[in-house]
Amino acid sequence: MLKVALPKGRIAEDTLEIFTKIFGNEFKFEDRKLTMTQGNFEFLMVRNQDIPTYVTEGAADIGVVGLDVLEEHNADVLRLLDLKLGKCKVCIGIKNEDKLDYSKPEIKIATKMPNITRNYFATKATAVKIIKLYGSIELAPIVGLSDAIVDIVETGTTMKQNGLKVAEAIMDSSAHLIANKNSFIVKREEILSLYHKINDLIN
Ligand code: PRP
Repeated sequence: MLKVALPKGRIAEDTLEIFTKIFGNEFKFEDRKLTMTQGNFEFLMVRNQDIPTYVTEGAADIGVVGLDVLEEHNADVLRLLDLKLGKCKVCIGIKNEDKLDYSKPEIKIATKMPNITRNYFATKATAVKIIKLYGSIELAPIVGLSDAIVDIVETGTTMKQNGLKVAEAIMDSSAHLIANKNSFIVKREEILSLYHKINDLIN
């Protein structure tokens, strides 16, 4: 049995489309059900941010997750394939009228991604105060909660509609197929067989 963790959220639809092409129209999660079995595969419907945990712990053998989430978790997993979907950037956003001021003794940054943020500003030798939020990040600079944000930019619409602009891009992200290191030894054939099917579809 190969356990596959699939993401909810922004990359869910495109990911499910790939798996539907491989497994046929039977490939459907019932209403609120979080697992689905098809032949030798068990699919798990997992929150995007939790996928590295499921795969690292071996609760899932493989999974699909955004590179930004992987970096944030610093997850010890194998990166098998860039699925080239769910493309976005992790960016620093500031108000349209502002400049990112590195001369400040401390920059206040609101973000869902504290580790990516801390690592990036460490390379700039700049002190940051990180304000951890769980969503609607673009609101923070508008109401004076932070000087800047670090967040996902896909179309740029959310920043634009809230009077923000990109000051710097930190990294590119897209969905990746990942594997638990031990599973890749024990279930190598099954994993590679699925890997090749996905690879053929996207390349
Ligand atoms: C993400 C991200 C931005 C927005 C970017 O939020 O945090 O807010 O999407 O997309 P855009 O550049 O296409 O506008 P999400 O929709 O995941 O909701 P959240 O604010 O609840 O995290």
